[in-house]
Amino acid sequence: MSPSFQQQLGLRFPLIQAPMAGGVTTPELVAAVSNAGGLGSLGAGYLSAEALGEAVGRVRELSDQPFLVNLFVPPPTQPPGVAQLQAWLERLAPYHLQLGLPPPALPVEVAEPFEEMLAAVLRLRPAVFSFAFGALEPGQVAALHERGIRVLGTATTLEEGRMLEELHVNAVVAQGSEAGGHRGTFLGPFEAALTPTLTLTAQLGAALRVPVIASGGLMDGQDVARAMQAGAGAVQLGTAFLLCPEAGTSAPYRAALQHGRESPQLMSAYSGRPARGLPNAFAREVADLPPLPYPYQHALTRPLRAAAARQDRPEMLSLWAGTGFRRARALPAAELVTELMREAAAFTTPG
Ligand SMILES: Cc1cc2nc3c(=O)[nH]c(=O)nc-3n(C[C@H](O)[C@H](O)[C@H](O)COP(=O)(O)O)c2cc1C
Repeated sequence: MSPSFQQQLGLRFPLIQAPMAGGVTTPELVAAVSNAGGLGSLGAGYLSAEALGEAVGRVRELSDQPFLVNLFVPPPTQPPGVAQLQAWLERLAPYHLQLGLPPPALPVEVAEPFEEMLAAVLRLRPAVFSFAFGALEPGQVAALHERGIRVLGTATTLEEGRMLEELHVNAVVAQGSEAGGHRGTFLGPFEAALTPTLTLTAQLGAALRVPVIASGGLMDGQDVARAMQAGAGAVQLGTAFLLCPEAGTSAPYRAALQHGRESPQLMSAYSGRPARGLPNAFAREVADLPPLPYPYQHALTRPLRAAAARQDRPEMLSLWAGTGFRRARALPAAELVTELMREAAAFTTPG
């Protein structure tokens, strides 16, 4: 596997801090990782174009190094049926009452403004753009390349990786089953797209010409070294950065990561799309209701999640975490990057 992705960007380390939408990947975190020699990533999935512009401006105040911006490609969707929506509104009502919120209601604007966001990315010209949940149109990839922006797509299967390579992405992120957060799966059923990270990395590495970036459950330098040995050109770590002081991880979320006893599970409770997180009361109590098509449920649970974070109620909060969450370290991001690379080198170099 060629290390060209790292060389092209002039990165000191083949390490990406994963984009994590929802306020975790603050400009301070992104800049600290990029300044330390990795590639910091802004998860812009739920931002407005204006907020993205501000976040990018702040990263540039703090760093002159390359960084990445990430968006979710909206999957094809259709509105939920009236009865299905009503069932969710009824089920959410008692939680709203507990949190002192007005009764739940579907917001007028449900869909994320993807076209507008992509136009903002083209204007802002980050060094790298990555996407998940789908594939861009060929013209969109070409427009990004014309502006000198490198493009990464997210694959959870060999088939998805092949499709992304045909789209001329510069590298493919292999999201293994251990990964925290939403599954990026966009071809075929989610259940058939749960290959462990090292296996998926090796499969994609053998089949594709573009570099493969291993992602999912990688927490220390030994994990990083193993992924590189499996054929990765770089690694992408999310959960490992959640406890960094620069991360926007809320206080109850941090506490859950530090004290959580149960293993992370796949759940659709918060957004209607499978995502790996720490199990909690809300996820258990609504598990029997069929999920609404994405992004309806995501839009519907947004007030609940925001209020739960403010009111220190981890039992109603999406607590995304990969399987390795117990090994997350509460270190400043720059120290974590240096430490990960030192450990990886020690594991790779005999003696
Ligand atoms: C809190 C959280 C939020 C995430 N948000 C995004 C996102 O906005 N876009 C994306 O492509 N991936 C997102 N992911 C998935 C990561 O890109 C990556 O696949 C995952 O973090 C790797 O597994 P790990 O958490 O075990 O390192 C998120 C992951 C977490 C933990």
